[in-house]
Amino acid sequence: MSFVDNLSRNIVGSSDAMMALRKSVMDVAEHNIPVLILGPSGSGKEVVAQSLADLSGRSGKLISVNCASIPKSLLEAELFGYEKGAFTGASKTHKGKFEQAHNGTLFLDEIGDMPLDLQSKLLRALETKCFSPVGSSREIEVDFRLICATHKNLYKQVVLKNFRSDLFFRISAFPIRVPALKDRSGDIENLVYHLAQQLTLSGQSNMKFEIEGDALWLLKTFSWPGNVRQLRNVIECLIIRSGGQAINAIQVQQALREQNEQGLNDQGSPAQQALNAEESNRSPLDSVTDYRSFFVSNGKLMIAEHLKTVERKVVAAALVAAENDVELAAKMLHLSVSELFDKKQTLDL
Ligand SMILES: Nc1ncnc2c1ncn2[C@@H]1O[C@H](COP(=O)(O)OP(=O)(O)OP(=O)(O)O)[C@@H](O)[C@H]1O
Ligand SMILES: [Mg+2]
Repeated sequence: MSFVDNLSRNIVGSSDAMMALRKSVMDVAEHNIPVLILGPSGSGKEVVAQSLADLSGRSGKLISVNCASIPKSLLEAELFGYEKGAFTGASKTHKGKFEQAHNGTLFLDEIGDMPLDLQSKLLRALETKCFSPVGSSREIEVDFRLICATHKNLYKQVVLKNFRSDLFFRISAFPIRVPALKDRSGDIENLVYHLAQQLTLSGQSNMKFEIEGDALWLLKTFSWPGNVRQLRNVIECLIIRSGGQAINAIQVQQALREQNEQGLNDQGSPAQQALNAEESNRSPLDSVTDYRSFFVSNGKLMIAEHLKTVERKVVAAALVAAENDVELAAKMLHLSVSELFDKKQTLDL
């Protein structure tokens, strides 16, 4: 196995979606363009960032910053560093994450949570690869590769003016979308064994791992709203509870019931459900060309009824893109909020 194959194998999954993702990772890894990793919580965005850094060929380290977990008041100093005496408590000069990422990769996780007032300094640092630490007029030049990730809808944040559009375009040159686990259930079996191996190897358990067929089937058919992280947690519980015996369906059922009780089995809003149904049953008339060939081959349709279907699809898509924020979806559709409410009702969304 080549070095590259080996590294990209850290991203477990052989579904079409994961094969495409792995190809994107390999295609872009060595190029110094910013990558934006998108995907729901727990889907594996950090795993992708690590693979990109490993395959980048850059000599420096991967430096990660979780923009959501650092208090806003400290984030600037954390990112850009500070001079001794820059503020109370700054007893010595501190190197920021940008400087630490010199010759390596800077991973800004949860970039959607970056405060607006810091975004302009960030944009300047990204454009010029130069910045000044807090409390200093000294300019530091750095060479880093930028990777950002978010589980938020950044476009929505741009529309709501919480995120600068110029920064959005700057960081999203090469987007990589990590699919939700429920959309690649074919990967679950491999992930189960991979995670079990990781958990037993990391010393959290020295038990061997075995699972019965119907128990595995239950895992494969669960909806996994918390994605791979949730699967990992369930596997960890199951390993501990099984006491070294093969895991059976009753144990899995119990573990999944507990997940439901924690409110982790959300099937999504009516709009998301409608969109999912549409997606899995795509109309053959998705483009103008499709319509042309439909009519050329003597197809007939009831235009009023058909337009209702199209309207439902468009409104559902806007609501999902706006994460059910009716005000934002109304803006996207050039409707007033009350018009959108009426449509939601008549279209049963
Ligand atoms: N494709 C994968 N192959 C192997 N392990 C994975 C994969 N995807 C996720 N994992 C594992 O699942 C857990 C969650 O992954 P990760 O932290 O990368 O998710 P995330 O998308 O960054 O989540 P969040 O949005 O909450 O930050 C980790 O333990 C990770 O190792
Ligand atoms: Mg993460």
